[in-house]
Amino acid sequence: KKDQFISDLMQKMTLEEKIAQLNLITPTAGTGPFKTKRAIVKLQEGDAGNVLSLRGTPKRIHDKLAFADSTRLRIPILNALDIIHGYRTIFPIPLGLSCTWDTVLIEKTARIAAVEATSMGYHQTYSPMVDITRDPRWGRVMEGSGEDAYLGSLIARAMVKGYQGDDLSDPTSLMACIKHFAAYGAAEAGRDYNTTDMSRITLYQNYLPPYKAAVDAGAGSIMTSFNDIEGIPATANKWLLTDLLRDDWGFNGIVVSDYSCVSELIPHGVAEDYKEAVQKSIDAGLDMDMASEGYATYLKELVDEGKVSMQQVDKACRRVLEGKYDLGLFADPYRNYDPDRYKKVILTQENKEVAKLAVSKSIVLLKNDNQVLPLKKDSKIALVGPLVEDQYEMMSMWSPDGQKDSVVSILEGIKNINPNVEFTEGTQVTDNPGYLKNFGKFDEEKQAQLVDKALKISKNADVIVAVLGESRNISGEAKSMSDITLPNCQLQLLKKLKATGKPVVLVLLNGRPLTLEDNLDYTDAALVAWRPGTMAGAGIADVLFGNYNPSGKLTMTFPRSLGQVPIYYNYKNTGRPFKDGERGAFKSRYLDETNAPLFPFGYGLSYTTFKYGDVELSDTLLIGADKRLSVSINITNSGSYAGEETVQLYLNDPVASIARPVKELKKFKKVFLQPGESQKVAFSLSHEDLKFYNNDLQWDWESGKFNVYVGTNSADVKGADFVWKK
Ligand code: IFM
Repeated sequence: KKDQFISDLMQKMTLEEKIAQLNLITPTAGTGPFKTKRAIVKLQEGDAGNVLSLRGTPKRIHDKLAFADSTRLRIPILNALDIIHGYRTIFPIPLGLSCTWDTVLIEKTARIAAVEATSMGYHQTYSPMVDITRDPRWGRVMEGSGEDAYLGSLIARAMVKGYQGDDLSDPTSLMACIKHFAAYGAAEAGRDYNTTDMSRITLYQNYLPPYKAAVDAGAGSIMTSFNDIEGIPATANKWLLTDLLRDDWGFNGIVVSDYSCVSELIPHGVAEDYKEAVQKSIDAGLDMDMASEGYATYLKELVDEGKVSMQQVDKACRRVLEGKYDLGLFADPYRNYDPDRYKKVILTQENKEVAKLAVSKSIVLLKNDNQVLPLKKDSKIALVGPLVEDQYEMMSMWSPDGQKDSVVSILEGIKNINPNVEFTEGTQVTDNPGYLKNFGKFDEEKQAQLVDKALKISKNADVIVAVLGESRNISGEAKSMSDITLPNCQLQLLKKLKATGKPVVLVLLNGRPLTLEDNLDYTDAALVAWRPGTMAGAGIADVLFGNYNPSGKLTMTFPRSLGQVPIYYNYKNTGRPFKDGERGAFKSRYLDETNAPLFPFGYGLSYTTFKYGDVELSDTLLIGADKRLSVSINITNSGSYAGEETVQLYLNDPVASIARPVKELKKFKKVFLQPGESQKVAFSLSHEDLKFYNNDLQWDWESGKFNVYVGTNSADVKGADFVWKK
């Protein structure tokens, strides 16, 4: 039925009408160098069939989508927006959400985003970003799920399911767009838009799995990345877009470029001019051109000259029309339009409850000396820092429709539980932007005022809670940093607070791993709260006072110093491995720094403690691919709070045909234990878990000895070994 419908429609379409379906425009910026018409007029006159970042009330958005009714064939417009961590109910940034290791919760957040966004008239979101990230200098690490391909794949799948639901044509379903294909997270030196270069094995093993998982979950679209792969920019990379994505993976959704990627083939140095850039893009398999309007300007000419075939245009056009069909837009271009529906589904109490839990669950407790936390509900608190009253900074660069006024500030969240708070009133960050970044305007006088106020209110307090971190404006797209320490003014403040002799609790708001070692020396407890979103203060206060016992686990390694970057847990042993504390100069090491990170992947404390027993195996010798190995371990809550632990299982293949990482995450399980309670946690492994990409890029396993590790993070594990033969 769908095929017939589209074939019939395409029969009636002119070449210009087909090309319009491949043109994605945006009213927010003056793109499209060859056309001077306003974006809105282009939509109205049928020059573009797709739009990004239409803003306004549902009525205004509806009226613009209704421009399609004035075009000859009345083909509905595809309406996209970057909905990255919530639409109006803003959840923690994706990096924060990933630290929950809770795919059910993550799926729920995506579903809520879909319900809210579709009520406004949006059809497609440019999410999930599934780029694997090992370099915290890159500003976009905040938008992904960290450094691990296995966890990243589970999260990718959960988000696609959440956005798209069971049926894309349901008016509450949002088409997902996987991005950025591929390996954008490996931009050299963490500099945005930079080149990536890696072996195919690394690409297949460590970077591609989350894209593939999202494709397998049925994502309706995928976005090309800004970088090149093996010298060929992703947007013009036929191997990537056709051989791998279409032919190997069977993807049949829409491939859209990132913003102006088609025109960027010129500065990349692979196209002489715009026209050649267009030809290379469509030849590679790109369906839709975002914002460069190269397709709109040159495709017809290329077809007329016989350089691009009509079949190529038809193929791309069909995919776009299929996407619109799957979204139910031909049946109802306005998808149950109701100008008031949004009032009932946006920022509901239920949505806010999910957001609050997501804030608490994403928080990672880094340190808690002398059990300073949880705070007593009747303690006298000095709440210090330029962000304590802030609402705007709680969100991120990617909260386009998040509203500051609906954000629960940290002050409000704390006061709702314990009104016994004095705070550094009147020291907002807007007065002193240099406070939250290592560059820009910094006002010494304002800093002195903050310090004075902080010390004054600390006098009467039992405990000091310092809310510090980095500005929201230095993480996200085009926000690379060459220095990931907190500004010196924050360290100076912490030193003064610590000198009061009162316990100091650091609440960090950040979009990336930071080098924190110096700062932590002047704190008793520290937690990472990321950019928490709408329910920031409520979720943070729940953790501070123990209404929620923290359970978040880092999904990106925190380095000790920038010189260690890129740093990640699944590194290779090398021919000259070095264990910290060992002697020996000619080893793979730094002279001035240990190899170990400040906090490893998987790390995160709880208010309670978990004791791990020994790893027990059902077998130590297995023969044949039909066998299963049970790996179990006894976990006891040895502290005094009920709490959740994420038990992590890693594998290592010490001798193989290619060098394999020292550890790879293969499974994890969450257990919730009352004080004193024990539980046996069991994992079942199959030979599939032993597979890797070998030198022929075959996904296979090899007989031999394996090490299995189970623990509370990637560094603190118990081990056992077994032999598994084919
Ligand atoms: O979706 C984004 C992408 O991640 C980066 N460039 C702009 C796109 C559209 O806003």
